[in-house]
Amino acid sequence: MRVIRSVSAMAAWSDRLHREGVTIGFVPTMGALHNGHRSLIRKARLACDAVVVSIFVNPSQFGPRDDFTRYPRPFRHDLSLCRAEDADIVFAPTQNGIYPRAFQTGVTVRTVSRLWEGAHRPGHFEGVATVVTKLLNLVRPRKTFLGQKDYQQAVVVRQLVADLNLGTDVIVCPTVREADGLAMSSRNAYLTDHEREAAPVLFRALKRGEGDILSGVTSAAAIQRAMRAAVAGHRLAKVDYLAVCDPETLAPVSRVRGTVVLLGAVRVGTIRLIDNLIVKRKR
Ligand code: PAJ
Repeated sequence: MRVIRSVSAMAAWSDRLHREGVTIGFVPTMGALHNGHRSLIRKARLACDAVVVSIFVNPSQFGPRDDFTRYPRPFRHDLSLCRAEDADIVFAPTQNGIYPRAFQTGVTVRTVSRLWEGAHRPGHFEGVATVVTKLLNLVRPRKTFLGQKDYQQAVVVRQLVADLNLGTDVIVCPTVREADGLAMSSRNAYLTDHEREAAPVLFRALKRGEGDILSGVTSAAAIQRAMRAAVAGHRLAKVDYLAVCDPETLAPVSRVRGTVVLLGAVRVGTIRLIDNLIVKRKR
């Protein structure tokens, strides 16, 4: 496994592999890797000849009140996880490499970025879309592996890949969870013991919504009420949103027909957790 720090060395490496006809699988991350990231690297390893994992804590996707400086950066641990999963390249560029002083371009995916996470975190998806576009231009992967955990992010990336003809297959992989249902996330490390105990409430609320849909409830308002009620009992938890949405546009629906995605964000203490479930209504 090789660690590449420079943007030009990364571009040169992928150029050479393209000339040799080698397919590249790409897993973009911000590090602090856990079993969710690991599952993406495994998928890439099975599907492609060469695997690139990027580790870059992207400042432009953090808001002023977000946790950029205290975001965990356990780089040695991350390298050993990548080595254990047989990645070929860890691309860990510097901030200057990605955003040199003269940098002034932003990528905006208009409609879908405005909803949900976009509404709560202004500028977040422009930061994500800009860095992902740059990373895809440098790595030029045949396949790009993302987690369903960040469902809206995956929709945004899919859209920009199509709109800008970036020519990579976007593969969205299932959410990896702790035994109690909490979706794995680098931010879970910030939870105090009490908050950690309360944290699975989001998954339970989504499962409640799923259960209602599978038992025949079609009114989105009723499903939303049931999901909110599942959180209401928890002193530490506060709902940002719990919504029943179209799986492609992410627009809220009023009736469940076919497949929907339940999107949720809950604050547990000071930590904001997001999660989602795709639910297919039985006929
Ligand atoms: P990060 O939060 O490090 O996540 C990197 C990838 O891992 C994302 O595609 C995310 O959806 C996936 N992931 C996170 N937790 C997961 C889980 N429990 N199960 C399955 N997959 C999971 O998302 C980002 O970084 C950044 O926004 C990035 C795309 C790298 C751009 O900066």
